Amino acid sequence: MQSKYLKNDEYPPSEDTFFIVDNIKNEHGNFALDVGSGSGYLTKLLSENFSFVVGTDINFDVLAHQTYKTDNLVCCSGSDAFKKKFDFIVCNLPYLATDGILDIATDGGVEGFEVPKKIFDSVIKNMAKNAKFIFVTSSLSNYQKLIDYAQELGLKTQIIAKQKLFFEELILVESTN
Ligand SMILES: C[S@@+](CC[C@H](N)C(=O)[O-])C[C@H]1O[C@@H](n2cnc3c(N)ncnc32)[C@H](O)[C@@H]1O
Repeated sequence: MQSKYLKNDEYPPSEDTFFIVDNIKNEHGNFALDVGSGSGYLTKLLSENFSFVVGTDINFDVLAHQTYKTDNLVCCSGSDAFKKKFDFIVCNLPYLATDGILDIATDGGVEGFEVPKKIFDSVIKNMAKNAKFIFVTSSLSNYQKLIDYAQELGLKTQIIAKQKLFFEELILVESTN
């Protein structure tokens, strides 16, 4: 996970972004949601393969100046602004285990669980029947606790890919309801 940004605190497409891309580029369907859109890189990719795509981010400035702009951007936490159900949801989570939240793009709070939990609690309400929720986490967080929590919410989860980097291992999880 990268900690130096381009402009307006936008998290630039990084190893974790490309790791997700490698694993979702063949997904297609109707309604897709990218939570924590950041630069918009994943939102844009989804808009090539899904009929209707929304990107959300808690950081308004980031959405306002996104590098990879798409049409439907909403500033909110997780998917809190929606009643709509989505078939496919992706999130490059702020997963770093941190004492506090100093950097909203990367810091996940205690055990890297605090912020992802909020996002899960939000997203679960917007999953259509047979929806897929893909998220990335890492060896730098208590990722097992996060997977256990997704299961507590009633999601079936499986680790679908891992990627070793110099200082961490990225873990991609697929959850279905
Ligand atoms: C690691 S960056 C990922 C950016 C981009 N999706 C990518 O893969 O390169 C995480 C993004 O999530 C956003 N974020 C943090 N907490 C959030 C929350 N509770 N709800 C929505 N977005 C959040 C941050 O502002 C940041 O843009």
